[in-house]
Amino acid sequence: MSARRARLGVLVSGGGSNLQALLDAAGQADYPAEVACVLSNVPTAFALERARKAGVRAEVVDHKGFGSKADFEAAVLGVLADAGVEWVCLAGFMRLVSADFLKRFPGRVLNIHPSLLPAFPGLHAQKQALERGVKVAGCTVHYVDAGTDTGPIIAQAAVPVLPEDDEASLSARILAEEHRLYPLAVRLAVTGAVTLDGGRTKVDARVTGDGMALRSPGAPK
Ligand code: GAR
Repeated sequence: MSARRARLGVLVSGGGSNLQALLDAAGQADYPAEVACVLSNVPTAFALERARKAGVRAEVVDHKGFGSKADFEAAVLGVLADAGVEWVCLAGFMRLVSADFLKRFPGRVLNIHPSLLPAFPGLHAQKQALERGVKVAGCTVHYVDAGTDTGPIIAQAAVPVLPEDDEASLSARILAEEHRLYPLAVRLAVTGAVTLDGGRTKVDARVTGDGMALRSPGAPK
C-alpha cells in the first residue's frame, strides 16, 4: 500500500509555472505530496488552466470582491478547509498573508521568492538584483512568517548574473531553478527532513547530500 501523501493547497496569482513544477512532481508515484486544491485571487490567472488540466480542483477567490483582508482570507481559508488542505504553498501569490491566516497552518505555509533572501525581498526582486549589481542571484523557498519574505529559509539555489542580462533573461534563469527547488523543498518539509529551529531551519543532511560552493564567475577552464 502506498504511503499517505500530504495535501497541498497552492495559492497563485499568475502564470503558475511553479504550480506546474509541483503538479509534475506530484504526478510521480513516490512524491510525498499531492495538490489538493489550487486557489487564485486573479480570475484570469493561467495557473487555473494548469490545475484543471491536471484534474485538480481550481478555485477563484478574488480579493477585489471583499471589503476587508479578513473577509478575503476567511473565504480563502474556507476553500482550503473544504479541500482538506494540510500545507499551503504560495507560488507567485501576490498578496501578503496575515498572522491570523498563518495561525491556521502553523509552520505549514511555504513561499518561493526569486532572490537569495534576505537580499531583495518584496516586489521586482530580479530588477533589484540587477540594479544592485550582484554577480550571483537565485531563489529561496522559506517558511512564511508575518513579515515580507522574512521567514526561516529551507532551501536556496544560485545562478550567475551575466553582463548582458536584463530583467527577462535573469528572471528566466532564476525561474528554471525555482522549478527544481520548490518540489525539493516541499519534499523536505512534508517528510520532516527540514524542521524549524527558532528563526532558522535544520535540514537533514542525509537527504540533501553534502555541500557545494557556487562561484560567479566560474573558475577558468
Ligand atoms: C516566480 O518567479 C516567483 O518566485 C515570484 O513570482 C513568480 C511567479 O511565477 N514570486 C514572488 O515574487 C513573490 N514575492 P509563476 O506564476 O510562473 O510560478
